[in-house]
Amino acid sequence: MNITAKTKILGIFGYPIRHTISPAMHNAVIKALRLDMIYLPFEIKPSNLRDAVNGIKGIGMLGINITIPHKEAVMKLLDDISEEARLIGAVNTIINKDSRLIGHNTDGYGYVASIKEDCKFNPKDKIIIILGAGGAARAVSAALAKSGAKKIIIANRTLSRADNLVKTFKRKFPDTKFEAIGLEEDILRTYFQDINLLVNTTSVGMEKNEILEIPLEVLLKTAIVSDIVYNPLQTLLLKKADKLGLAAHGGLSMLIHQGAKSFKLWTGIDAPVNVMRKAALKALKTI
Ligand code: ATR
Repeated sequence: MNITAKTKILGIFGYPIRHTISPAMHNAVIKALRLDMIYLPFEIKPSNLRDAVNGIKGIGMLGINITIPHKEAVMKLLDDISEEARLIGAVNTIINKDSRLIGHNTDGYGYVASIKEDCKFNPKDKIIIILGAGGAARAVSAALAKSGAKKIIIANRTLSRADNLVKTFKRKFPDTKFEAIGLEEDILRTYFQDINLLVNTTSVGMEKNEILEIPLEVLLKTAIVSDIVYNPLQTLLLKKADKLGLAAHGGLSMLIHQGAKSFKLWTGIDAPVNVMRKAALKALKTI
């Protein structure tokens, strides 16, 4: 790597930041394509976020990824926000264009690209249950609705949060039906019988022994069970789905595709996803 005064700077702001595998993915692409760029991780405390965001302009960085816990807080510090990111209520990518900071959200795109590629699943006319109603649920639901899903059911522990999401999205996507439900087993049993896809967007599954107690056994045999958690690569939910003979789809591809989309927004270049995947798998072994 030859760093010069011309080297363009990309990076990620988060707190804590030590678990991120984004630098490994992006620097692998930069190396493979022989670009004069570098992607760096920055640990930014919430109290320093404003100064750090101003630094993007001050230093003349090309762009930045934003991760936990800054995805929402960063929105008020930007010059403009894409319609999709505004609807989702979170930004994961900032472009520095002529000293104007524009916020985007590539998470939903990443999810749909991953399920299309890994499972040959086209959301058009499908019935889908999303578990969770946070920022990740909003990103995934928006992208699935944009791709023509027939019906999206938001199932959340706190029903009022699911209700709020449904209220906004119904207006925004009139061609998709939305419904909010709780996570009670008897309710899930009824809804699970005719869905094509189940997506876990809650954080349950990140810890080794965690699993949402949900009746996967009543799903159609053709249904796909998807988990956006990527560490562990195969969550207990996916292991259970696999045992039941259901297609199980993990979260690593979503991470890769959201990264590829961010890279495209910053550089105009299509990132080779196979290079990103290889680097991500290697990096996961070290964190
Ligand atoms: P993100 O922006 O990553 O989606 P979030 O906004 O904190 O994160 O949302 C986390 C989601 O996981 C929520 O839907 C949360 O449910 P509540 O709205 O009821 O809090 C869900 N979640 C977290 N822990 C959970 C658990 N143990 N059981 C069920 N749902 C859980």
